[in-house]
Amino acid sequence: MRILVLGGTAWLGRELAARAVAAGHDVVCLARGEAGPHAPGTRLVRADRDADTGLAAVADRSWDAVLDVARRPSHVRRAVRDLRTGHYVLVSTGNVYADTLTAGQDEAGPLLPPGDENGTPEGYGAAKVACERAVLEVYEGRCTIARSGLLGGPGDPHDRAAYWPWRFAHPSGAEVLVPDAGAQATALLDVRDLASWLLRCVAETVAGVFNTTGPVTPMAEHLAVAAAVGGGTARTVPVPEDWLREHGVEHWAGRRSLPLWLPETMAGFCAHRSDRAYAAGLAPRPLSDTLSDVLLWRAGLDREWSAGLADTEERDLLGAWHADRPGGGGQR
Ligand SMILES: NC(=O)c1ccc[n+]([C@@H]2O[C@H](COP(=O)([O-])OP(=O)(O)OC[C@H]3O[C@@H](n4cnc5c(N)ncnc54)[C@H](OP(=O)(O)O)[C@@H]3O)[C@@H](O)[C@H]2O)c1
Repeated sequence: MRILVLGGTAWLGRELAARAVAAGHDVVCLARGEAGPHAPGTRLVRADRDADTGLAAVADRSWDAVLDVARRPSHVRRAVRDLRTGHYVLVSTGNVYADTLTAGQDEAGPLLPPGDENGTPEGYGAAKVACERAVLEVYEGRCTIARSGLLGGPGDPHDRAAYWPWRFAHPSGAEVLVPDAGAQATALLDVRDLASWLLRCVAETVAGVFNTTGPVTPMAEHLAVAAAVGGGTARTVPVPEDWLREHGVEHWAGRRSLPLWLPETMAGFCAHRSDRAYAAGLAPRPLSDTLSDVLLWRAGLDREWSAGLADTEERDLLGAWHADRPGGGGQR
């Protein structure tokens, strides 16, 4: 098949392109070439989707499939206007849902009003709603829209999945600081499983809108798997969420954060139902496999962490917590 990846120089896009090449397809990636290298075996067309004519170099032929990781509605509107393809795949996000509190929502859950990217999580979700609409207006019945939850796996620039197994493998001392939020849902999906499934959707013309998350797993279980993968003997110290917030620890992602930890207002965010995608062949590998692979991959990298607590931050926070709660409870 002739496959066009709109993107392909960053993480998921490159994974999609590499897997498409491995499956024997003829793959072109279109990007500015700023995010990183394109996958071996693909051809990179350098172009800027901000320009109205940005897709001109790939609009003169028809494609069997276009795979798009865009975040900007204007990029998607131009793509569905200018490109000719049998099947359109849009990678969307679980951030499209208006209700972040209710667990167990399926694809019929109410969406945010469509909007444009504005640098906030709501803006990101609203922009993806607009991207989805643009695709559905032209390709309804011939498109796959994947509302992805948190992705993990080798190559992840965000380090959210890598932090926990790495932290257990490399504790800053005798204890590992964790949020006292053991019941909170996590639902990590391996990027390789999403990429494989999207290519299967293309090959088998599986169309529709799908939540694509990993199995819903309580935080306590996720951390237990991370501890088993990381090894070591450090005790976990669950610290109340209010205390963490008061001490400047961020939720979810980024520096000085406890990755995957969500505010109570986001309790349903990682608990979407992905039954429709599972029935259509999405097959998440065991969490332990993803965490083992991402730990191994991360150990070979020499760059700053994008997420989590630095050793000194964790030691300082644990010291402050024990000072606030003398004799307070390490456990594992
Ligand atoms: N990470 C997660 O946990 C998660 C969760 C849910 C959904 N998602 C979705 O998964 C996808 C991730 O995609 P990704 O990993 O490949 O990363 P990404 O950072 O979203 O990739 C953006 C791609 O688009 C290209 N691009 C950006 N602006 C462009 C422009 N003006 N003109 C041409 N190309 C442009 C970039 O390449 P250049 O910079 O080289 O141009 C890059 O290849 C996204 O759709 C994201 O919303 C991710």
